[in-house]
Amino acid sequence: MAADLRSVTVLIPGKLHEQSVRRIGETFRLVAIDTIDAALLTDEMKATVRGIAASPAIAGGLVGPDFMRALPKLEIVANFGVGYDGVDARHAGANGIMVTNTPDVLTEEVADTALGLLIATVRELPKAEAWLRAGNWVAKGNYRLSPLSLRGRKVGIFGMGRIGMAVARRLEAFGLSVAYHNRRPVEGVSYPYHATLKGLAEAVDTLISVVPGTPQTAKAVNADILKALGSDGVFVNIGRGSTVDEAALAAALADGTIAAAGLDVFADEPNVPPALLDAPNTVLLPHIGSASVHTRRAMADLVVDNLIAWFSDGKAITPVPETAGIGHNR
Ligand code: NAP
Ligand code: 8YV
Repeated sequence: MAADLRSVTVLIPGKLHEQSVRRIGETFRLVAIDTIDAALLTDEMKATVRGIAASPAIAGGLVGPDFMRALPKLEIVANFGVGYDGVDARHAGANGIMVTNTPDVLTEEVADTALGLLIATVRELPKAEAWLRAGNWVAKGNYRLSPLSLRGRKVGIFGMGRIGMAVARRLEAFGLSVAYHNRRPVEGVSYPYHATLKGLAEAVDTLISVVPGTPQTAKAVNADILKALGSDGVFVNIGRGSTVDEAALAAALADGTIAAAGLDVFADEPNVPPALLDAPNTVLLPHIGSASVHTRRAMADLVVDNLIAWFSDGKAITPVPETAGIGHNR
């Protein structure tokens, strides 16, 4: 099997976790280009590449139709990350190309980050620490009492999937009520379900978004939803920046439509809109939801394990729904 896999060419376009790179180099024939750009593919790559391992969010590109079309022998795209908005999975599925992602191994880490971000936002932890470090505790006395509290909050989860459920379990342990909105209710889940995001926003005062970035979720959290959340409202985004109308969010924070926001993800990373940077009532993180050494290694391994499973057994471990039915037929 090992000799077979050495003859399989796998392309890494752009930056990828070093453990994925090392294991792909040890297992397959590895070729690389600097960014996800079809113009960089050599004729030799076009003739031989059967697999791609990519982290589009880091490599700054889209594994889209043009890129896939340029590689006629392509069988699988192994995406680093559970969110695969950087890969056109629908195009891949329609063309018999498998796409895999990295679910489950990052769920608890991302849920931990979400809770940390929520508490930091509501209780102003970064500002309180800055107060101490600036010498204000000595010079001016105690940091102010936080106007907001987690106590008594009603939390709505937009996207009750793997991570949403892990967030909900933590919120329950904190003694907070939980409700949610998905396109359909989750079987066996007793948290109140709202058929619309607006209905959820009206029913809660804290909204945590964990939905994937898709055409359907683009700018779903808009001025209307923020108004429904209300003036005591706190918005936390740990899913994708594309799901928020950032201009509407900045306006809602500035005029008191909502009280505060904690954001780990942005529409045009690593660029953060100045209006969000300048807003006093935001806590902003540089997309670190899964970013521990432990969890990133597990993600890196799952990327490579999917490639190995595909090329040795003809089955992917974690196919995305759009390509789940695809078999190894080449
Ligand atoms: P998941 O298990 O697939 O959960 C996604 C949830 O979103 C599902 O419950 C789904 O329910 C719901 N959903 C999808 N489209 C929707 C729509 N149009 N309207 C309403 N609900 C919708 O995925 P996961 O593992 O929890 O990951 C969720 C997302 O988190 C990823 O896609 C990624 O973008 C993000 N993420 C961010 C970080 C970070 O570092 N900040 C790390 C990991 C993941 P229905 O299908 O029933 O609608
Ligand atoms: C990663 C993520 O930071 O899994 C996801 O969807 O957003 C994060 O875990 C990202 O994929 C790195 O490329």
